[in-house]
Amino acid sequence: MNSFLNPNKKPKRNSNTKPIFNPLSCLFLFLSIISLFFILLSPSSITRFTFSLKNSPPQCNPKSTAKTLEFLPKGEKYLWYSPHSGFSNQVSELRNAFLIGSLLNRTVIIPPILDHHAVALGSCPKFRVSSPYEIRVSVWDHIVHLMQNSRYVSISDVLDLSSLKHSVKMIDFRVFASLWCGISMDEACSGSLCCGLSQFTSQWGDLKQCGSLLSGLKYNSDCVYGVTEDCRTTVWTLQPNTDGSLDSFQPDESLRKKKNISYIRRRRDLFKAFGPGSKAHVAKVLSFGSLFSAPYNGSQLYIDAHDAPADAYIQPLLGKIEFLPFVAEILSAGKEFVEKKIRVPFLCAQLRLLDGQFKNHWKATFSALREKIQSLQAQLEGSDKLMNIFIMSDLPPSNWSGTYLGKLASDPNSFKIYTLKESDELVSKVAEKLMAREHGIRSGYYPREIVSMDKRKQCVSSRVLPEVLMYVEETVCSCASLGFVGTSGSTIAESIELMRKNNVCLDSNNS
Ligand SMILES: *[C@@H]1O[C@H](CO)[C@@H](O)[C@H](O)[C@H]1NC(C)=O
Ligand SMILES: *[C@@H]1O[C@H](CO)[C@@H](O)[C@H](O)[C@H]1NC(C)=O
Ligand SMILES: *[C@@H]1O[C@H](CO)[C@@H](O)[C@H](O)[C@H]1NC(C)=O
Ligand SMILES: *[C@@H]1O[C@H](CO)[C@@H](O)[C@H](O)[C@H]1NC(C)=O
Repeated sequence: MNSFLNPNKKPKRNSNTKPIFNPLSCLFLFLSIISLFFILLSPSSITRFTFSLKNSPPQCNPKSTAKTLEFLPKGEKYLWYSPHSGFSNQVSELRNAFLIGSLLNRTVIIPPILDHHAVALGSCPKFRVSSPYEIRVSVWDHIVHLMQNSRYVSISDVLDLSSLKHSVKMIDFRVFASLWCGISMDEACSGSLCCGLSQFTSQWGDLKQCGSLLSGLKYNSDCVYGVTEDCRTTVWTLQPNTDGSLDSFQPDESLRKKKNISYIRRRRDLFKAFGPGSKAHVAKVLSFGSLFSAPYNGSQLYIDAHDAPADAYIQPLLGKIEFLPFVAEILSAGKEFVEKKIRVPFLCAQLRLLDGQFKNHWKATFSALREKIQSLQAQLEGSDKLMNIFIMSDLPPSNWSGTYLGKLASDPNSFKIYTLKESDELVSKVAEKLMAREHGIRSGYYPREIVSMDKRKQCVSSRVLPEVLMYVEETVCSCASLGFVGTSGSTIAESIELMRKNNVCLDSNNS
């Protein structure tokens, strides 16, 4: 894939620079001295103005008259980050973005869902990861790719974020990019609300410049602050009193020697680094790389909110972001399948068999399922012996023969097997509904003025329906009353367990 923004290329300097002693330069020098005088005397707003006199793009220039900027809330600041890897990982990064955005009083820019293998971080424990800057560029490139292929779907199109309305400020990336970058996002739209964004605004910006700004290509601390720390050097915490201390997980001697690395991991306080008084605080956009974190060897890889102060603000927020449910359309489709197609108590088996590490663990995955089935069969003895099983797997049914799944499927007297596929009407209908509803745009800030001008504007020509099978399957599994067997180490299994713990199936009864 050719990179939209090549991270190896330095931004081009204007080649026809003028000789130093022409009258213009003298004037500039004179002005600079005058402004230096003001800088020394005056509050920071003037410094910002003088620094942005030269070549600032409109969104970084406080004197800009670009019209779309007026539609953004006055004085608001934003948080951008770089989601990657699979869907569950992207959800966990979103949760961290909410935590940081809320802590720093910044509006979180809600990104699209990225394709599973489009952007990878690497391995934190092995100290081999893409830098925050590299990953921001890859994410931007992929977003442009999604737009150009009519495949843009916001993560808030499928997640119901309404419970966070009063705790976290958000804005859909498409709304932000239209207004702050002055670019048309029509290619990323699926409905009239999104289409309306571009109709009445002059398109003054360009995609490439927007990408280089958000990725921190042009470093400008007043405008965009690109975070440079990653999991090789930093664990972000909410504990100012341990700021700067060493984390318990460090590269060991052999790794240090083998890789010739000098990384030392320190625990640093998020608020101290990016809050009031910091260099990053003044920036309109604070731009992170990956926000992925996970427990590792008794510590956290990148973000550790465990010992957050027990104040009245952070703890309830942590509770609220712990579980982000799917939107109602997905939940009711899953429930409909359970009620109309399965209709009886059933077991759900989630078997990840093809991707990465899971290819090598078929034996363990199948034996967990076999054990569960045997223990259920012992309980069912005497009563109805037919066991109903819903199977969610990346191995398609046509490839089951010769596996344990094939064995189950070929024994219709003992097992009734249910599956779903992307092309099933129940599933494709959900995808259509989600695109029409535009939850993504609605769940964050958008300028009502623009939208109310013409509700019927349509800019969607050929739209590729999003893949929603996995979300519907997870919902079905959350309703499995005979139990659930997942694949060990799979984040999909974790997500289903979380849904079951939160009684998603019972809750959606009411909607
Ligand atoms: C949060 O940011 C808004 C600007 O969007 C500002 O009006 C408000 O005072 C800030 N709140 C705090 C606690 O700093
Ligand atoms: C290890 O890295 C340092 C700089 O980080 C470099 O100066 C040195 O030559 C490297 N040593 C080896 C053996 O590669
Ligand atoms: C894990 O932590 C223990 C104790 O904190 C340490 O002895 C061990 O070397 C660590 N393992 C790795 C892989 O860092
Ligand atoms: C599934 O079956 C098809 C054809 O029957 C074959 O081409 C494909 O390689 C199989 N996939 C796996 C993962 O076994």
